[in-house]
Amino acid sequence: MSGAEVRAVAPGRVVLIGDHTDYVGGLVLPMAIDLSTEVRGHRGGDHVELRSAQLDGTAHVDLPVADPSTVHPDWARYVAGVASVIGATTGLVGTVDSTVPPGGGLSSSAALELAVALALGAAVDPVPLARACRSAEETASGVPCGIMDQLCCAAGVEGHALLIDCATESYRTVTVPEDIEVWVLDSGQPRRLSESPYAARRREAEAAAGLLGHLPDVSPGAVESLEDERLRRRARHVRTECDRVREFADALDRGDLDRLGELVSASHRSLRDDAEVSTPVLDELVRTVESRPGVLGARLTGAGFGGSIVALTRAGTDLDGLGVSARRVRPSAGARLV
Ligand code: GLA
Repeated sequence: MSGAEVRAVAPGRVVLIGDHTDYVGGLVLPMAIDLSTEVRGHRGGDHVELRSAQLDGTAHVDLPVADPSTVHPDWARYVAGVASVIGATTGLVGTVDSTVPPGGGLSSSAALELAVALALGAAVDPVPLARACRSAEETASGVPCGIMDQLCCAAGVEGHALLIDCATESYRTVTVPEDIEVWVLDSGQPRRLSESPYAARRREAEAAAGLLGHLPDVSPGAVESLEDERLRRRARHVRTECDRVREFADALDRGDLDRLGELVSASHRSLRDDAEVSTPVLDELVRTVESRPGVLGARLTGAGFGGSIVALTRAGTDLDGLGVSARRVRPSAGARLV
């Protein structure tokens, strides 16, 4: 293949606070991280062919794409989903190389989608790019995800987290102070969102919103008056989590480390008890990590049901020796052509 060479990079993300709120228009505060996926190759021809340095098989997708959900291997569905959503007609032959662990709750799929989209010629404007890749994710995996992962990975800014209002898809950067460290710890509990109750949680939150209105704005009294106990808990999670996100952004601005830790811990309890997306393995890991000196707070991050937890620590804290993979991550730039 002799077409123009392209190289696109997109980061993974970690959610500092604000989970299971994006799909009902809530607030979230994720940050793009220094683990990323690179797609590199030559444009031209009538198919996309990408070999992965980490994953089995080669993604071979003929253009225009017929049905992305039937493509093999599984990871190639994201490639096909993107090619289909952006209506790609010019092909690409090359490689995918990633440091974002798959299935670890760090948005490896969003990183792949964004890198493929840019390599296939999509415009770099974060909101439309994120919308296209969110739609590709749903097409490829069947998971009715929100906009958070793709928008964070598209719009990330080095040294900053993003405060995103998913109702308006507007966002602002929030500086992550140098005296805080962000760690990701892999629980070792694998999960596939398509086989998890993620879609059920979304339906329940939407049902609660159908009764009460825009959940981030409803009064605590209105939430508690919901008769259905399950819907009441789902609504309570969204409402209180959005309050915590707002407060967390303020505490980051003030550099109030203790308050940041309290909010993160409260978020985990809400995800465990009201959203019901935690697992005993994640709860135990959060408890263990929170008992270490220097840890401000810890919570599950992303969809839950397994995957990773995030811990905020004072600078210089060491989280090695816990028997799980622990990695310090840094706030990084979003998807780009390089
Ligand atoms: C997954 C989805 C996101 C979001 C989180 C939970 O990562 O892709 O849209 O719903 O779960 O906050």
